[in-house]
Amino acid sequence: MSDFASRLADTQAILTRIANEFAPAVLASSLAAEDMVLTDLILRHKLNIGIFSLETGRLHAETLGMLDRIKASYGSDISLFKPEASAVQAYVEQHGLNAFYDSVEMRKECCRIRKVEPLKRALAGNKAWVTGQRRSQAATRTELAVQEEDVAHGMQKFNPLADWSEEDVWHYIRSNNVPYNPLHDKGYPSIGCEPCTRAIQPGEDVRAGRWWWENPESKECGLHVVDGKLIRIKQVS
Ligand code: ADX
Ligand code: SF4
Repeated sequence: MSDFASRLADTQAILTRIANEFAPAVLASSLAAEDMVLTDLILRHKLNIGIFSLETGRLHAETLGMLDRIKASYGSDISLFKPEASAVQAYVEQHGLNAFYDSVEMRKECCRIRKVEPLKRALAGNKAWVTGQRRSQAATRTELAVQEEDVAHGMQKFNPLADWSEEDVWHYIRSNNVPYNPLHDKGYPSIGCEPCTRAIQPGEDVRAGRWWWENPESKECGLHVVDGKLIRIKQVS
């Protein structure tokens, strides 16, 4: 078996195990490439894992367009979780629409309102959640395990693509004709909210276009690091 085939087989085995042993479980999808690999594996094999997206209100039109494309390809709807309108309104009234450029604190507060609080609602009642994070994606992810205990949310957290490379992701997408966000072809390897994501130049780090005005160490939105104490690590056998 090639290295890629064995990584794919491991990922399929983990997803099957999650569906069988950790239901109800959910995939958090940003609708970017890694999450489309997992979405394809879940929907193609009809695995019992729900899929949701945090619709922050600041996503690119291309990203939102993926919802219809997923529906057309697989016949499935992605559940959407949106921020509390009153919290968004209060933030905008007090600080302005784009105050996240002013300081890390203002940026984290926007992420808290638009992503972290909706994530809590999306995860409530589940036994496990699944993400598309990879180790080689970021300075903050080099220690990422496939299975973690998410103390902050009180459930298991799985990163089935932890040891996939960027090439693996694109190999899977192209070999299986998986729909993908057209921004990936325009210099966006990593896609978040529209005002906080920009295209990168060849040779730049894949996350260089995310919160590009901040230090690499602070570039996490709170979905995966909570008060710096996220998780106890537990390896899958
Ligand atoms: S982030 O923390 O910097 O925003 P990144 O874009 O790399 O994260 O995505 C990592 C994983 O976080 C994704 O694979 C996905 O599981 C989850 N995620 C990120 N953004 C969203 C979103 N808007 N909705 C649901 N899940 C998301
Ligand atoms: Fe707000 Fe930017 Fe965070 Fe999106 S990524 S929630 S716009 S600070």
